[in-house]
Amino acid sequence: MDRYAVIGNPIEHSKSPWIHARFAEQAQQSLEYRALLVELDDFERSVAEFFDNGGKGLNITVPFKERAWAMADRHGESAREAGAVNTLYRDSDGKLVGENTDGTGLLRDLKLNHGADLSDKRILVLGAGGAVKGVLPNLIAESPSAIFIANRTVEKAQALAAASATKVEIHAVNYENVPRESFDFIINGTSAGLQGDLPAVHSEAVSTHTWCYDMIYGVGDTKFQIWAKSLQAAHAHDGLGMLVEQAAESFRIWRGHSPQTAPVIRQLRQLLAQA
Ligand code: ATR
Repeated sequence: MDRYAVIGNPIEHSKSPWIHARFAEQAQQSLEYRALLVELDDFERSVAEFFDNGGKGLNITVPFKERAWAMADRHGESAREAGAVNTLYRDSDGKLVGENTDGTGLLRDLKLNHGADLSDKRILVLGAGGAVKGVLPNLIAESPSAIFIANRTVEKAQALAAASATKVEIHAVNYENVPRESFDFIINGTSAGLQGDLPAVHSEAVSTHTWCYDMIYGVGDTKFQIWAKSLQAAHAHDGLGMLVEQAAESFRIWRGHSPQTAPVIRQLRQLLAQA
């Protein structure tokens, strides 16, 4: 049976094995997909061992996406620009190929599942860590009129902006310097919500036409969604759809089959509500 896994640390709460099992059922393909906890100093050895033992594909999650990028012999276009890899496989020559499906996942959720149009819009991105790095090329590809990257540590936002060769206007700011105006989209790519925190962005950033999107998800609304709804934002979505969509794109890369995501998103939402 073809073997796949997601590698991370921590990993016990990963929904990826469940999601890929649903995709395999849909496609009537039999495969194994496990979650592997890997110690911080053991990542490269574990990846090599997995593929040497015949493993077909890996998903990579926090905190290993940049190291996965460094390990890959070759990068898909999205991964090359993102500098982070969440999907690995070996090609027919045995070369390790790194892809990044996070940006595709975010944009499919926003556009196909929720009907958003980002072209010519002003986007405020919160955070400048690995999560934002992975999706920035895809946001730029939508031709927004401007992207503001806000981060506590402004240097990280500046580095991301400087590394993005694009005609799109990109500004790096700290939270105090976020322009005092409302944005068309606010995308929360910080990990603040995981500690029950909210990034310190002013409430004028939200108006009744603003789309708010949190790249994390939980049981019920995230702190950021609660904040967005309290300000009457037009939309306040969490990242559950993105999670399923990035998994679907990994599945397509590995298996040549594009799963239907809507039923899996629905079932996963139910599963979380029951938990
Ligand atoms: P990930 O790979 O999940 O993006 P990361 O690379 O550690 O993780 O980045 C975490 C991001 O969340 C960073 O942008 C971080 O801001 P700093 O770079 O200034 O540390 C941001 N972050 C984490 N906790 C936060 C909080 N309480 N408020 C605002 N931003 C926060």
